[in-house]
Amino acid sequence: MHVKKAVIPAAGLGTRFLPATKAQPKEMLPLLDTPIIQYVIQEAIDAGIEDILIITGRGKRAIEDHFDRSIELETLLHKANKLDLLEMVRNVSNLADIHFIRQKEPLGLGHAISCAQKHVGDEPFAVLLGDEIFASSPPCIKQLIEESERLDGGQASVIGCMEVSREEIGRYGAIKGDRLGPQLYRIEDMVEKPRPEVAPSCLAIIGRYVLHPSIFDLLQVVKPGAGGEIQLTDALRELAKKRPVYSLRPHGTRHDVGELPGYLEATVSLALERPDLAGQFRDFLRTKLAIAENAPHRATQKLRP
Ligand code: UTP
Repeated sequence: MHVKKAVIPAAGLGTRFLPATKAQPKEMLPLLDTPIIQYVIQEAIDAGIEDILIITGRGKRAIEDHFDRSIELETLLHKANKLDLLEMVRNVSNLADIHFIRQKEPLGLGHAISCAQKHVGDEPFAVLLGDEIFASSPPCIKQLIEESERLDGGQASVIGCMEVSREEIGRYGAIKGDRLGPQLYRIEDMVEKPRPEVAPSCLAIIGRYVLHPSIFDLLQVVKPGAGGEIQLTDALRELAKKRPVYSLRPHGTRHDVGELPGYLEATVSLALERPDLAGQFRDFLRTKLAIAENAPHRATQKLRP
């Protein structure tokens, strides 16, 4: 069965990015000149997704405004004959068939996904977390969709994963699986944010999934887990007891842009790939690095208020 719908949970509070996220959604922070969530949406579109549901919450209106038309801005750009910018602005509001639903309280990722039940209906669907971006070809979610369509008569649930160090695994959901191929596992069990010494593996769940719709019934009954939140991982664990759940280690580079180190890495990587920025920016970085090596105290002078 062809995966046509994607859900993008974006209702979290973004506390790892305070104070920037006090009054604006982290999904709207720019990477270069484009908000994070637009990269995520572009990945879904490039994977052939036709319908996108964004789960928003309090203080997330800017996401809806960004993908809506802005008649005043369009009129102004038209009058000023700035036709390139006009086209760019119009393209954003025509990207895809985008819908919104509000999660009334941030009760956890699992709860956010359960808000999509009515919209998704009875078909496998993709989930892309609104605070992770991927540089890969084919797009990360497409790699998962292809596996999902190949396995179990096109109905398989496939979760993205990546290898991390034992110290890091406690920050993720960890999977225990049977290796079926170089990148593919069949999941036996999984646990959210395990203590590193008892983690079943160093395979960490990442923010890309293709899910069978039976996950919705399980999300209704799962109890609050790690951090008192309704965890998707706990429902997936139950799903794996009823039908095969797979995990794929996709090709490409993942950036967790929901916190500062990943955000900085993504910004630098994207700038170095942009023809209009790369040359000057590379020179700037070289100079900065040279200064840092020769006079470390100068390079670490504080800029923060
Ligand atoms: P995170 O826990 O990484 O993000 O949730 P957060 O809660 O926004 O941020 P921190 O941890 O406080 O910095 C992973 C994804 O799930 C969404 C988030 O928006 C993010 O995309 N989420 C999380 C929801 O939509 N609703 C929730 O109740 C919790």
